[in-house]
Amino acid sequence: MFSVKVICLLFIGYFVQTSKADDVSTPHLCQQQSGKCFTVIVDQKLNWNDAEKYCETTLPNGRLASIHNAFDGAIISTWLAFLSTDPWFGGFQTGALPFQYTDSSPLDYTNWTPGEPTLPCAQLCHSTGNTAGIQCQQGKWRTADCENTSAQFICEYGNYSSSIPPTVVERSCNQDNGKCFALVIGSLLWTEAERYCESLAQNGSTAFLASITQASDANIIATLLQHPSVNSNLWVGAFAFGGAPFQWTDRNQFLFTNWAPGQPPSHPDGCVQVCQKADSTCIQGQWTVVPCETMLSFVCENMSYIGKDCRELHQKYSDLPSGVYKLNPPGIPAFNAYCDMETDGGGWTVFQRRIDANISFVDKLWNDYKVGFNNGLENSLWLGNDIIHVLTTKDSNVEFRMDLWGDRNPSSSNPNGYWFVKHTSFYIDNEANFYTLHISSSYTGNASTNPRYSMYLNNNWHFATVDSLNGVYSGCFSSLFQYNGWWFSSGNCGSGSLNGKYAWTNWGAYGLAWYTGDTYINPQQSRMMLRSVLQ
Ligand SMILES: *[C@@H]1O[C@H](CO)[C@@H](O)[C@H](O)[C@H]1NC(C)=O
Ligand SMILES: *[C@@H]1O[C@H](CO)[C@@H](O)[C@H](O)[C@H]1NC(C)=O
Ligand SMILES: *[C@@H]1O[C@H](CO)[C@@H](O)[C@H](O)[C@H]1NC(C)=O
Ligand SMILES: *[C@@H]1O[C@H](CO)[C@@H](O)[C@H](O)[C@H]1NC(C)=O
Ligand SMILES: *[C@@H]1O[C@H](CO)[C@@H](O)[C@H](O)[C@H]1NC(C)=O
Ligand SMILES: *[C@@H]1O[C@H](CO)[C@@H](O)[C@H](O)[C@H]1NC(C)=O
Repeated sequence: MFSVKVICLLFIGYFVQTSKADDVSTPHLCQQQSGKCFTVIVDQKLNWNDAEKYCETTLPNGRLASIHNAFDGAIISTWLAFLSTDPWFGGFQTGALPFQYTDSSPLDYTNWTPGEPTLPCAQLCHSTGNTAGIQCQQGKWRTADCENTSAQFICEYGNYSSSIPPTVVERSCNQDNGKCFALVIGSLLWTEAERYCESLAQNGSTAFLASITQASDANIIATLLQHPSVNSNLWVGAFAFGGAPFQWTDRNQFLFTNWAPGQPPSHPDGCVQVCQKADSTCIQGQWTVVPCETMLSFVCENMSYIGKDCRELHQKYSDLPSGVYKLNPPGIPAFNAYCDMETDGGGWTVFQRRIDANISFVDKLWNDYKVGFNNGLENSLWLGNDIIHVLTTKDSNVEFRMDLWGDRNPSSSNPNGYWFVKHTSFYIDNEANFYTLHISSSYTGNASTNPRYSMYLNNNWHFATVDSLNGVYSGCFSSLFQYNGWWFSSGNCGSGSLNGKYAWTNWGAYGLAWYTGDTYINPQQSRMMLRSVLQ
């Protein structure tokens, strides 16, 4: 024993770059390029699981070592003569699956003793000769029973990243709350894992590291933990810095918990992992707080939101940002729409928007306005009259809002102005009834300053397009006016049309134009939206 220690000390001076920054006093070696370090733990003899745990808890990003080439193997071999047992490293096998490494890196190099592997956990032969029935040669690999064998071990640690990209291996959805979980095998820092999960978000869905906010979530996580490729504890989306309360990255309330005994620490500072397997600190599925720089596999969640309209989504999930969501009101197929979740309390379904001239509204025909058109729902759009009919008639009361930005008319007195108007009641008939407009005369806002010239001027009039006049004044579609897709009257064009020609240099009452009650403006941008009023 004495001689081993002495040799180790000599050895430290000879092979090892000791660094005062970290506290590793045993022999160790760091690869300059990858940032990965190896060390041998000589003063502990543990079973394989506890050895892995020891590496994880005592070293930064610690794991049992993975060995990827003969050079690493040779470096480690120089330590073996000083050991009294065959040390563990990170190779292990679950069931009939191939050997793998605890750090998720590929098993791309092997150095097995002939006839091996036979048991599930990997060791290096520390000497040449017959040990425990195996004809060992120093430095070659052998296997042993993971639980019944106590041995020294080789850890790896440091600031390196695993070469395998994160991979989703299993998905499972929770009917109770609409969350879908994805088990991702990889080896990422907590912040990297969060970034990876967020990158899985699509239109109408958000994605984060998983939150566990009810027992049914915890049950799904418990099932994912059974997946054979789970090789570490798993990150979930909770963290606490500097003793502050815990938070979920998806902004769910932190109420449900499943802490391991003694957790969380009284001054928590780190990220939450779910324990993969039982050990002295944790039983499977329980939570502990560890440094966020640990590298683990993880669980992502996504939620795809489907509501009858944007108002319903906003009611259910008050934190949802503005954006494109799938809507599924009764009676028509589901469709995507842009929800404004901020303006005037949020929950607005946008049914018209103009932002530039990239898409023409003036050439569109009856059927185009019926089904809708856009060049991206974040850009210019008409949502479609059949949809607008359903959204404005499925509830007993629906609000209307119009917003206008800028006035492109060169002689405008307010080129950077902003105007809005809101009517308290709004619906349109179905196609058989020409999508006739029904809107209240009362309004608030400043886009209409004279009650005689608001949207109400068009009340009870048919929708008309250049190819389907439905009895309205045909002059609105003339080469001078260049209006389209609006509720005009039989004798005049009302207060203008936000669906008129965008690039039209007849300023004033022509093209994309709106009469505020004292002047015509040619908005730079326009938006119309609707919102059901909750009873
Ligand atoms: C490990 O030890 C337990 C009890 O100590 C025993 O039941 C089991 O058979 C042993 N397993 C092996 C593979 O030796
Ligand atoms: C870890 O490595 C990454 C990428 O090489 C680097 O950006 C980061 O600063 C390193 N962190 C530390 C603590 O050395
Ligand atoms: C959300 O996750 C489920 C299951 O994990 C997956 O099938 C679906 O494609 C994902 N949806 C979105 C919008 O990301
Ligand atoms: C069309 O969109 C592109 C990209 O957003 C923009 O640069 C361009 O000015 C637009 N064209 C017109 C005519 O508005
Ligand atoms: C997301 O929405 C944009 C704009 O509506 C669309 O161009 C894009 O194809 C959508 N992506 C997916 C994955 O649905
Ligand atoms: C209209 O009202 C809005 C909101 O109060 C205000 O920001 C805007 O400047 C007003 N526009 C005009 C032209 O007065």
